[in-house]
Amino acid sequence: MFSNRVLSGMRPTGALHLGHYHGVLKNWIRLQHEFECLYFVADWHALTTHYDTPEIVEQNVWEMAIDWLAAGVDPAQAILFIQSRVPEHAELHLLLSMIAPVSWLERVPSYKDQQQKLADRDLSTYGFLGYPLLQSADVLIYRASQVPVGEDQVPHIEFTREIARRFNHVFGRDKGFEEKAEAAIKKLGAKRARLYRQLRTKFLEKGDAEALAAARVLVEEAQNLPLGERERLFGYIEGGGKVVLPEPQALLTESPKMPGLDGQKMSKSYGNTIALREDPESIAEKVKRMPTDPARVKRNDPGDPEKCPVWQLHLVYSDEQRRNWVQNGCRSAGIGCLECKQPVIEGILAELKPIRERARPYLDDPTLVRNIIADGCEKARKLAQETLREVKQAMGLDYN
Ligand code: TRP
Ligand code: SF4
Repeated sequence: MFSNRVLSGMRPTGALHLGHYHGVLKNWIRLQHEFECLYFVADWHALTTHYDTPEIVEQNVWEMAIDWLAAGVDPAQAILFIQSRVPEHAELHLLLSMIAPVSWLERVPSYKDQQQKLADRDLSTYGFLGYPLLQSADVLIYRASQVPVGEDQVPHIEFTREIARRFNHVFGRDKGFEEKAEAAIKKLGAKRARLYRQLRTKFLEKGDAEALAAARVLVEEAQNLPLGERERLFGYIEGGGKVVLPEPQALLTESPKMPGLDGQKMSKSYGNTIALREDPESIAEKVKRMPTDPARVKRNDPGDPEKCPVWQLHLVYSDEQRRNWVQNGCRSAGIGCLECKQPVIEGILAELKPIRERARPYLDDPTLVRNIIADGCEKARKLAQETLREVKQAMGLDYN
């Protein structure tokens, strides 16, 4: 809301594939140039569903970090870290749990969905119930304003907003918050103070959203005020106390779903993936084995690209001229399916070549990745500790 911080995480569940690249990583890479970005490996979240196989988590943490770096996530632009190395996430999770209604957690759609989908897993744990709350702590501990996620995660961000609102409502109204807000307003200077009061009244009495936005800008620009007082003024516009934990926004990834080898969305659970660092031979083999329009039994049977998953990949990898070649060649049986697949194979290999090359130094020298992550953890911890200090103060836990 008031910062321009972006945060996102991924569970370390296996090698990343083209679906992750087109759906998530390209977006992360774009954002790292525009915002302060924090990206982390959600290893505790992996444990909520896989507590019985922690060795999978360990392997995948480092593989995933290499996949990110190989894809172009730049440690000079974004902070890369591991959730469990920033224990402040756990402390905030615990503190938030004091005000998190169990019924809200039970109502998050993924709770029952996942229990049905992953019927072979034990998801009757306290940890799994708390999955969205841990995610809230991940986001709120950095006061992130934007969280790039897929559609399935939107309810978790909505939940996070509700928890933040509840926290601010319960703990943002310290004793005498009105007097403190009035004192902070005076520090804005006479002219700005008058404007702030006018805008606040307009918002509180008429719900004028523009007035709210204008008042926020005014407070944001008051750089001479300490952060705590600015938060107080942000909260006071809306009638309340301090905004200790600002509400984040979900940043929906707009990119189309990457088709898999069978035409369904590419996903590990469908077994239709191409990994980012997969062997070129294996990639070529997989594409050659892809099903095509079943009407094309013999070479001279005409086909329909709309009924063929290979066409979906041409939509990702081919320009207009090549697409016309496919459309005409398929419908007239002028080209064979293997011929049609060749440019797709080349397109994928060309896309993945720089990724494989960027991964090489990290594979040759694992300490490079360890150092990048250690550096990221340290930076993340500093930010997390700042928030936690204010959270504890708001809750009255700063006693000696
Ligand atoms: N739950 C997310 C997923 O499965 C991963 C995640 C954990 C996350 N904490 C987060 C994503 C915080 C965004 C922000 O994809
Ligand atoms: Fe699919 Fe291409 Fe074969 Fe047509 S020619 S069925 S689009 S692979």
